[in-house]
Amino acid sequence: MITKGIVLAGGTGSRLYPLTMAVSKQLMPVFDKPMIYYPLSILMLAGIREILIITTPQDEPAFRSLLGSGSAFGIKIQYAQQVSPDGLAQAFTIAADCGFLKNEGCALILGDNLFYGHDLVRSLKTAASRTHGATIFGYRVNDPKEYGVVEFDSDGRVKSLEEKPQSPKSNFAVPGIYFFDRNVVEYAGDLRPSPRGELEITDLNQRYLDQGELVVEILGRGTAWLDTGTHESLLQAAQFVEVIQARQGLLVACLEEIAWSHGWIDLDTIERRTQQLGKSSYAGYLQKLLSETNDVHH
Ligand code: DAU
Repeated sequence: MITKGIVLAGGTGSRLYPLTMAVSKQLMPVFDKPMIYYPLSILMLAGIREILIITTPQDEPAFRSLLGSGSAFGIKIQYAQQVSPDGLAQAFTIAADCGFLKNEGCALILGDNLFYGHDLVRSLKTAASRTHGATIFGYRVNDPKEYGVVEFDSDGRVKSLEEKPQSPKSNFAVPGIYFFDRNVVEYAGDLRPSPRGELEITDLNQRYLDQGELVVEILGRGTAWLDTGTHESLLQAAQFVEVIQARQGLLVACLEEIAWSHGWIDLDTIERRTQQLGKSSYAGYLQKLLSETNDVHH
């Protein structure tokens, strides 16, 4: 079982300038929560409670003041810094250097990737339960050029992986969530920078593929994978969250609720959080959760 996860929340966010000149991209609002809540919630839903957040040196204090030790969410958060954005696969070297990873498997989620949907949690838990090899996902998108792209043969086996191909061989993009076994630190350490100067996650996945140790699961159309890379897609992600929440009366990525449903925090902890969160609608939601839970118990 994979019990550790990394949220990679560094980078310059330059495509969102001037929004992200003074504030990290992964702290931008996606409707009513900072962006990082969403990927964090995904790791928690996969059952992962030991989490390393990698940020830039400038942004680390802001993440610490937002999320602290993680105790409010029944998880343990450590922080590490990536001094320059040298690629996603560098996350594993950083995680090993700071003592977070010790010869064990690990999940990685990009701090700007949002997922929502039916069956997602089951897919995540299955991936986390594999202790050998790597699991990544394939998700059909209209235009995969900006992503890692996976091609399958007629038997559904992986035929190729390519990073941002000019002529994609399929419509299946690889979303920013990955599960790797204990070899990941060694394999990441063997990587060399790509022509764009980055340690590519696609090259790491290719290594697993070459060893016959890569599983690619399809995330079906019932799952939403949203991008936040441009002002338009950031606004669309916020609108998506708003629409779902207004319709259901349930919050997407309410970290305290997820922790409570796993039995990781008690009602007193939720009560304290509710007070800290002031007059926000998020606090109102926690208040409602508390009163419904008390009703059930009495
Ligand atoms: O979103 C999924 C895609 O993410 C995958 O399909 C691609 O295979 C993968 O390479 C990556 O694509 P991008 O190159 O578009 O990722 P980007 O450079 O936008 O970085 C993703 C996030 O990670 C972003 O929030 C910034 C952060 N980041 C990026 C780099 C390169 C870091 O924290 N450190 C880094 O060194």
